[in-house]
Amino acid sequence: MKFSINPNDDIEKVLIEKDAIREKVRELGVRISEDYRGKELTLVSILKGSIVFLADLMRNISMPCKVDFISVSSYRGGIETSGVVRMIMDLRESPVGKDILIIEDIVDTGYTLDYILRNFMTRDLASLKVCVLLDKFEARRKEVRVDYKGFDVPNKFLVGYGLDYRERYRNLPYVGILKPEIYRGEK
Ligand code: IMP
Ligand code: MG
Repeated sequence: MKFSINPNDDIEKVLIEKDAIREKVRELGVRISEDYRGKELTLVSILKGSIVFLADLMRNISMPCKVDFISVSSYRGGIETSGVVRMIMDLRESPVGKDILIIEDIVDTGYTLDYILRNFMTRDLASLKVCVLLDKFEARRKEVRVDYKGFDVPNKFLVGYGLDYRERYRNLPYVGILKPEIYRGEK
């Protein structure tokens, strides 16, 4: 199946409209700002899926905060997780003694966050919490802690607002269900 010239044509259904995302991200920002009042927060964004969420969320956080990035790989490029997670790029600055909030686009099987949390728990942080925009709870295979959550979502393959299929669709302003014919025959 070929990708359409207009990426919107590959979407079966818009699941979360951009206005609903904007409102939810604003609420999350307010809650986070209250919870971390008087502290200096470091947002750790997991590349690349969380960049759109990060960019909107950080502008709704009203106290000093830093941003850093890590990159891990678990997807082989398709729609199914391999279950094997690797760190591809670590933080630029040392997280020792810092209040770290992990920013992730979606938690699916939980393997990725489980790996990251185990890794960060060895690092002498002041605190460690997790903020995810989307929770595909029916797909969970590893229980992971989520402190801030945007939306529960069905066990469908989603794209948009940072989420990709083969690096495409990240720029869609909403979260949508990808038409299955786009990835049919793929593992
Ligand atoms: P997990 O390790 O199975 O929890 O998967 C987490 C990662 O897989 C996320 O960071 C996403 O990059 C990716 N992922 C999981 N579900 C989807 C989806 O529906 N669409 C796009 N990417 C997804
Ligand atoms: Mg991701």
